[in-house]
Amino acid sequence: MSLSPNSTANDEVARQVRDLGWWYQHFELPCGVTTGNGQEPAYRPETRWRLFEPFVPLDLKGKTVLDLGGSAGYFSIQMKLRGADRCVLVEPYEEFVRQADFAARQFGVDIEIVNDDALTFCLTCDERFDYVIFLGLFYHLKYPVIVLDRVAEMTKERLYFHSHLLGLDSAPGAPKANYERGADDSLVDDPAFPRMMFIETLYNGDPTNWWIPNYQSLEPLLRSAGMKVIARPHDQLLVAEPEHYFGKVVHDKLVLPRFGKKGRAIHPGPQKVDPELWQRLIDSLDTEDAD
Ligand SMILES: C[S@@+](CC[C@H](N)C(=O)[O-])C[C@H]1O[C@@H](n2cnc3c(N)ncnc32)[C@H](O)[C@@H]1O
Repeated sequence: MSLSPNSTANDEVARQVRDLGWWYQHFELPCGVTTGNGQEPAYRPETRWRLFEPFVPLDLKGKTVLDLGGSAGYFSIQMKLRGADRCVLVEPYEEFVRQADFAARQFGVDIEIVNDDALTFCLTCDERFDYVIFLGLFYHLKYPVIVLDRVAEMTKERLYFHSHLLGLDSAPGAPKANYERGADDSLVDDPAFPRMMFIETLYNGDPTNWWIPNYQSLEPLLRSAGMKVIARPHDQLLVAEPEHYFGKVVHDKLVLPRFGKKGRAIHPGPQKVDPELWQRLIDSLDTEDAD
């Protein structure tokens, strides 16, 4: 039996996908080859896209997009397919940068990929973007709130924000204008009070998880950055728009600390996934095939 030209071309795409290692984002490329089967810890970003795409204009002509922690570029590609003029994807890990570059070429779209971390990018870029995608990244940041504040300033129209959450989802009490030290400490100590949990060691085996918020802190954090939440299409996903513009102050010199877990400085700056972790993830692909 002779192979059709398409199946030969698809075999070649499938080989390139495999050569790009372990993909966090599993999705279908235009030729029908997929980057994986959605097995955890990877996932299908299409599921998340379906939740917030009703809040994305169908025509993004003339618009600019920033996609922080964009991984293999699924969301940037969707925004380009909706006609966005320019899409900047920020991703510190070289492995994911190569995947994003490959995936964008497969879709025939042009994405500007910045191989850097969100902290450095947001503290050194004074541009603003119409739409900002900030999904699955907040809890990976050691300084999440300064990045969120920068993101709020950078957002001209809409922000798509997702974070892993811990804790109760019960309604917090109505906020008081002032909490009296001592007298009101039990209110602040309530598990339903807005809070973020600091993880010094590992969470889910991942040394890039730092702070996990409860739900009750998300809206206040966005509000205090000048954003108004307009929708919550999923427990962990918010759509927000600018309400107050606080502006920015630009200094010409910035010194960033190096930091990391397990005694290893891992941020800021471009880097590779921990080689041991990367190998384990690649090995898990053989197990998936055998399933
Ligand atoms: C949980 S994944 C989410 C990927 C994508 N945003 C999504 O929702 O499908 C986290 C992504 O953020 C990236 N990341 C981790 N630390 C980062 C940092 N300090 N700055 C920017 N991206 C980071 C990871 O490499 C990964 O691509």
